[in-house]
Parts: sequence; structure tokens; C-alpha cells
Amino acid sequence: MLIPNTDFFMPIIAPSLLSADFLNLEKECNMLNASEADWYHLDVMDGRFVPNISFGPMLVEFFRKATTRVCDVHLMIEEPGNFAEQFKNAGADNLSVHLEACPHLHRNIQQIKSLGMKAGVAINPHTPVAALNDILADIDLVCMMSVNPGFGGQKFIPFTLEKIKQLRKMIDERGLKVQIEIDGGVTLENAPSIIAAGADVLVAGNTVFKSTDPKGTIAQLKSLK
Ligand code: DX5
Ligand code: ZN
Repeated sequence: MLIPNTDFFMPIIAPSLLSADFLNLEKECNMLNASEADWYHLDVMDGRFVPNISFGPMLVEFFRKATTRVCDVHLMIEEPGNFAEQFKNAGADNLSVHLEACPHLHRNIQQIKSLGMKAGVAINPHTPVAALNDILADIDLVCMMSVNPGFGGQKFIPFTLEKIKQLRKMIDERGLKVQIEIDGGVTLENAPSIIAAGADVLVAGNTVFKSTDPKGTIAQLKSLK
């Protein structure tokens, strides 16, 4: 993200609560609220689109009460249109749906926007960036998966770096304001090259929550250029 009237870039940091300690969620939220984290990244899984089940709107509602930060909801579910309203009511600010789960993607995006949320499209590692061509002008965010969705703590898939560059070019050439969010396997070591490739938003689960100093790790990610 470019800070207005400067050339100063600062990445948006979106810790993924999937890696948080669910027995101590209040503590985890207090830590995030006292940190430089910009967004809460909330991963919703249905056991159908991905081989794992996480949580749904009920938990998003609790996170909404716990923070004033942006609630960035990543739906890894089939037929997300059936749930968009529930996530709006739960307090989601951003709602991302998977391109691979949406035969009527344009309709899903219009629905999300008409509910007053920012609309995101998530793509799996094997989905080409070109598949976004005809939806790009309608969306606020691309959540580019750099692991196969379903689990935290996986290794970053290197070829997705090239996809970030392609998407950055596509967005800039058309003068669009779509944000690029990178999701999966982001570490302090690979984050600089992810930013250099053109990412605006870094999702980080394990890197933040399994660190001995989560708040310090968020500050380190935030200071990368
Ligand atoms: C994976 C999720 C990610 C994940 C990121 O399906 O979408 O948001 O929790 O966790 P790390 O940063 O540990 O890969
Ligand atoms: Zn995610």
C-alpha cells in the first residue's frame, strides 16, 4: 500500500487467526489489537471445497466484537452465495470467495458489494492469473494462495512469486486499485521478495502465532519494504 502523497510503501499485515491459540482467543485478540496488525484474516472452511473444517459466522461475530481492525474473511467453501449475508451480519468487512468454487462469480461479487462489503476473489496456486481478467475491474482484492488451501503452517510454493508479478502488471496497466493479498507460507525470510513482486497484503498464520514474540514479529513484517 502506498501512503498518500509519499513514495512510502508499507505492507498491510493480516495475521491468520487459524494459527491462534483457541483456548486463549481473548489474549490473542488483545495481542493483535496492541500490535501493528492491520487486518484479522479469518479462514472459513467447509470440509468440501477444502479437506478441513474451521469455523463459521458465529466466531467471526466474536472477533468483530473483539476488534476495530478490518475483518478480512476468506471463504474456502462451496456455494458461498448462500452465506454472504450471514457473514455481513457477523461483521465481515472484506469477503473473499474462491474462483474455483463459483461458476457464477460475477453474481457472487455483485452480491457481496451490494451487501456493503469489499469483494475479494481467491485463487488456488494452479489457477492462472489470466482467469481474473474479466472480473478484475469489479473487485477490491485478490487473495492469491501460495499454498494449497486447507491448512496453516505449509510451505510457500515458489512459482506463485511469478504470478504476483503477472497480477501486479495486469492491475497497474489497467490503472486499477485492486489489492494483492498473499496467503500461505509467508515468513520473515520470504516476505521481502513477495513485497518486491508486488504484494500489498501479507497474511501470516504460523509465522506470527508460533513465534516467541508475535507482536514483535508483526512489527518486523510491517517494517519490510
Ligand atoms: C490456508 C489459509 C491461510 C493459512 C495461512 O488455507 O487460507 O490463511 O491459515 O497460514 P500460514 O501463514 O501458517 O501458512
Ligand atoms: Zn486464508
